[in-house]
Amino acid sequence: MTRPLVAIRSVSKNFGEFQALNRVSLDVWAGEVLCLIGASGSGKTTLLRCINQLTSIDSGGIWLDGELLGVREEGGRLHRLTERQIARQRLKTGMVFQRFNLFPHKTALENITEGPVQVQGRKQEDARAEAMELLGRVGLAAKADAYPSQLSGGQQQRVAIARALAMKPMLMLFDEPTSASIPNWSARCSPS
Ligand SMILES: Nc1ncnc2c1ncn2[C@@H]1O[C@H](COP(=O)(O)OP(=O)(O)OP(=O)(O)O)[C@@H](O)[C@H]1O
Ligand SMILES: [Mg+2]
Repeated sequence: MTRPLVAIRSVSKNFGEFQALNRVSLDVWAGEVLCLIGASGSGKTTLLRCINQLTSIDSGGIWLDGELLGVREEGGRLHRLTERQIARQRLKTGMVFQRFNLFPHKTALENITEGPVQVQGRKQEDARAEAMELLGRVGLAAKADAYPSQLSGGQQQRVAIARALAMKPMLMLFDEPTSASIPNWSARCSPS
């Protein structure tokens, strides 16, 4: 492999006068697990949101699998992509949010099948079978029919992880993943 899966170059983000990100650069390689550790308010969530294009960056660039995110270069100038093009790029990343954002009126299983069926057009029965397998992987096979309000915080996060994995993203972003301690789940943290 000759290029990183994610290349972040000199990314800055201001909220009004406040600078949340100041020329951040880093690479993440395929198969690598990179942990960002920093004080509350130091910009961890903001950086993940920039990678997932939920927050726009002010300067710098982010490349995913060699593709520049959010903009395209033509004739030496940058043009912003359409919402549709951005949505297509966003499908390559899965994000587990700090607050897990499960659909409250859907069961664990329905939360996981929603994206594959509605967005990717997968068959309901295939999506269900895969969702059950993912629930098993996060140790929650017995909770398939439970609603988020019936699950603990860590269990909700595990459903959110399964939901993100169901979309088969090339990159997973976890915001504050520590509440979900998954049986037989191993993560390797590389020093940054
Ligand atoms: N939409 C916004 N408008 C204004 N300021 C914001 C906005 N989002 C984040 N900030 C500010 O940017 C800074 C970074 O926030 P961020 O959520 O990225 O921090 P964090 O490192 O994830 O913190 P925590 O560990 O508490 O989750 C904070 O000072 C926050 O108040
Ligand atoms: Mg945060």
